[in-house]
Amino acid sequence: MTSLSIVILAAGKGSRMKSDKAKVLHDISGKPMLYHIIKESQKLSNDITVVVAHQKERVIESMQHYFDNIAFVVQDADNFPGTGGALKNVRVKHEKLLVLNGDMPLITATSLQGFLENDADIIMSIFDLKDPSGYGRVVISDSGVERIVEDKDASEAEKKITHVNAGIYAFKKEILETYVPQIDNNNAQEEYYLTDIIALANRDQRSISPLLIDEEHFMGVNSKADLAQAESIMQQRIKEYWMRQGVIMQLPESIYIEEGVTFEGESLLENGVRLTGNSHIVTSHIKAHSVIEQSSIVNSSVGPLAHVRPQSKLNNTHIGNFVEVKKSTLNGVKAGHLSYLGDTIADEGTNIGAGVITCNYDGKKKYQTVIGKNVFIGSDSQLVAPVEIEDDVLIAAGTTVSCAKVNKGSLAIDRTPMKQVENFFYKFFGTK
Ligand code: UD1
Ligand code: MG
Repeated sequence: MTSLSIVILAAGKGSRMKSDKAKVLHDISGKPMLYHIIKESQKLSNDITVVVAHQKERVIESMQHYFDNIAFVVQDADNFPGTGGALKNVRVKHEKLLVLNGDMPLITATSLQGFLENDADIIMSIFDLKDPSGYGRVVISDSGVERIVEDKDASEAEKKITHVNAGIYAFKKEILETYVPQIDNNNAQEEYYLTDIIALANRDQRSISPLLIDEEHFMGVNSKADLAQAESIMQQRIKEYWMRQGVIMQLPESIYIEEGVTFEGESLLENGVRLTGNSHIVTSHIKAHSVIEQSSIVNSSVGPLAHVRPQSKLNNTHIGNFVEVKKSTLNGVKAGHLSYLGDTIADEGTNIGAGVITCNYDGKKKYQTVIGKNVFIGSDSQLVAPVEIEDDVLIAAGTTVSCAKVNKGSLAIDRTPMKQVENFFYKFFGTK
């Protein structure tokens, strides 16, 4: 673990993404691509450097939110553009260096083992592709890897080569120090290509070892179509992991679970469920098409078609269809149908009838609703916050609770007496 340094190239513009956001900050399963790469890199190295330039402040800020032991180096992309330019100011601690691309979010520590077990001066990665267009082609002769030629510089014959450079390399620190300064920009793009170190090292008869790698871990994300493809592979991994830990999923291909969501015990997720942020689900039943964002659900059932918004805690609770909960703690509560519970605390034995709404916002500020134990709230009631409803209260259907407190044991009822006007229908519509 201590003998390897890792450098992640994340300075490029990523123009093919057609986005205002830096490519490496696009999310896969709820976290930026670069986050996934750093997370896996940390399993292998304690010296990780990320090279930034394009939108450098945003990239650095975003990563510092997740990690506190990463070094950042700013590439002088105006004077030294390209992947070779990216390494110009990089200094590493250890004797061996692994270079990763910030646009390969599916890399895992295990999939990088091949680079660590080999002691050549340079280990470079190769894919074999039916359609190699866009990639650097690897020119291999009887004596081994000779050089890499970029798509834009390749001759017609070279363009036919199907061995392509995957863009990941491991090399000795001394190779970085010797050859990176020798890279020039005499090429079609007038960029400093890291790939040129292969020809330079080959000239000096350094050992270069090609490593065949698989696309499932090393695909590069260059467009939004690639992003969607990487997302679906990442989702498959996350869901397979949790199914192995005991979570039941009906039609898992329709379920979305972000990196950071955790489970305990045996939960059942029906089709179409979406779980985001650091949600924590313990022995619960999440019914079809429910969305849970950054919340904890313990021994509860949710949905179908329910929406639990951030910072909610449901314990031993049932919420049913079309119930929205936000920043609320429900402990032993039933809210079966069509409710909005925002900034609410509700306690054991409380039943929330259909259509109950907490009016938590007056257009300027948000206010709390506190509901005690064994409260029965009749259908279609509104609770105007801030309000406290003590234990053992009955609220009649259709009541607008507009006082600050309803006392323990009481009935709250707010109704204009209903009138019944005999024969009104016939007077109004006439008789047939
Ligand atoms: C690169 C390789 C190509 C390989 C392909 C595999 C070079 C010259 N070419 O091409 O042989 O087949 O990857 O995906 O290396 N970056 C910087 N600074 C820069 C430019 C890029 O940090 O000035 C970073 C990018 O953010 C990205 C990585 O380097 O993470 C690769 O850059 P990209 O522009 O995607 O290179 P490719 O054209 O794909
Ligand atoms: Mg690329």
